[in-house]
Amino acid sequence: MQESDLFTSSDAPRPLPVGLAWLEGFALTWEDALLEAITRVTAAAPLRHLMTPGGQRMSVAMTNCGPLGWISDRCGYRYSALDPQRGEPWPALPAPLREVAVAAARAAGFESFEPDACLINAYTPGARMSLHQDRDERDFNAPIVSVSLGLPAVFLFGGDTRRNRPLRLPLTHGDVVVWGGPARLAFHGVAPVADGQHPRLGRQRINLTLRRAR
Ligand code: SIN
Ligand code: FE2
Repeated sequence: MQESDLFTSSDAPRPLPVGLAWLEGFALTWEDALLEAITRVTAAAPLRHLMTPGGQRMSVAMTNCGPLGWISDRCGYRYSALDPQRGEPWPALPAPLREVAVAAARAAGFESFEPDACLINAYTPGARMSLHQDRDERDFNAPIVSVSLGLPAVFLFGGDTRRNRPLRLPLTHGDVVVWGGPARLAFHGVAPVADGQHPRLGRQRINLTLRRAR
């Protein structure tokens, strides 16, 4: 138990850990351009349910754009320049995705972030992502920039072990979360997405995570 847990009730607001920024509505300026870009990327490189190394089908459907894409299969997790399903490079990183990521990173205090990978996660109601660290990148000095669109979801943000009780951030359409520095390797995940209907995206949540993979 952390000392602070002795003095705060479980539902009292907790300060965000150093290195984590929650930029509410930050991506709304780019809304139309982001949605158009996501439609184009997913038409070229379709969303698919990857297998974990342990052989489980992920509930979140994924694809990528940019020079590198994150993949998972029976051999493990890694970045690949080729989409294994199509045997071709991932679609190029659309300019608005790069722009929102660079601007959000800067707003969070990370100058000169240059993403070379963007994982696109699509959640239908019930889909979730269990607590994990993003550690397949070569250089942990660059932050992770996460853009949430569509249905709301509770983003879980813990500490550097699975035992820390995670913060619960209710992310909505247009929110951007940036984590880096001392928070770069924090465990994080997404609670099961509740059913609903979003005016722009229907019955789904789309999350973009922009990374510097190498
Ligand atoms: C991730 O950790 O890659 C996804 C986070 C999210 O969907 O909000
Ligand atoms: Fe992650």
